[in-house]
Amino acid sequence: MPSNRKIKRALLAHLPADQEGKIYELGSGWGGVAFLLAHRYPNCQIIAFEGSFVPYFCAKLLHQFYHYPNLTFLRKNFFDHSFEEASGIFCYLYPGAMERLKVKFEEELHPRTWVVSNTFAVPGWSPERAVSLKDFYRSKLYLYSLATAAITSPARNQAMTMSKSSTKTKPNEKPHQFQ
Ligand SMILES: C[S@@+](CC[C@H](N)C(=O)[O-])C[C@H]1O[C@@H](n2cnc3c(N)ncnc32)[C@H](O)[C@@H]1O
Repeated sequence: MPSNRKIKRALLAHLPADQEGKIYELGSGWGGVAFLLAHRYPNCQIIAFEGSFVPYFCAKLLHQFYHYPNLTFLRKNFFDHSFEEASGIFCYLYPGAMERLKVKFEEELHPRTWVVSNTFAVPGWSPERAVSLKDFYRSKLYLYSLATAAITSPARNQAMTMSKSSTKTKPNEKPHQFQ
């Protein structure tokens, strides 16, 4: 099921204003959110991963029409791709995937990366904000800043200390801010 209109509106309202680098959508379905991200962040490279052929193919077809040069659809299992270069991540998946992603996030994400998840929280993480929507499903958007999200997670604290990615932070680099 794709993210609905209210979710997309809330995403636009809350995502960080200025962004650079790569933004990943994990499981892009028909591409609705990927097109939105490509429009919202023309200076970013949007990489949209989709495992199923039909939605991937339809998104590619639509892309012929919209043609955002900063957007790439990949037919690929996102678990097989490193997230080390991501500055932001959006996903709308299922609880089992969030369990697996939590481990991958904690191992691979840069401390300044933001993560936004529709409906399914990252287990054990504290969101910087949780936005409840008045739609049919009472959807919730969970907005995380890596630097603070995993304070409750001992594994993350250890990973932050040990990970080589944490040494990539330069003193003048500021964390993003959700709006
Ligand atoms: C609920 S849909 C969300 C679509 C879109 N992100 C949105 O918000 O409208 C989840 C999508 O993730 C894809 N997906 C699930 N696990 C995946 C994986 N490991 N690799 C790539 N795509 C995956 C599914 O095929 C499905 O199209």
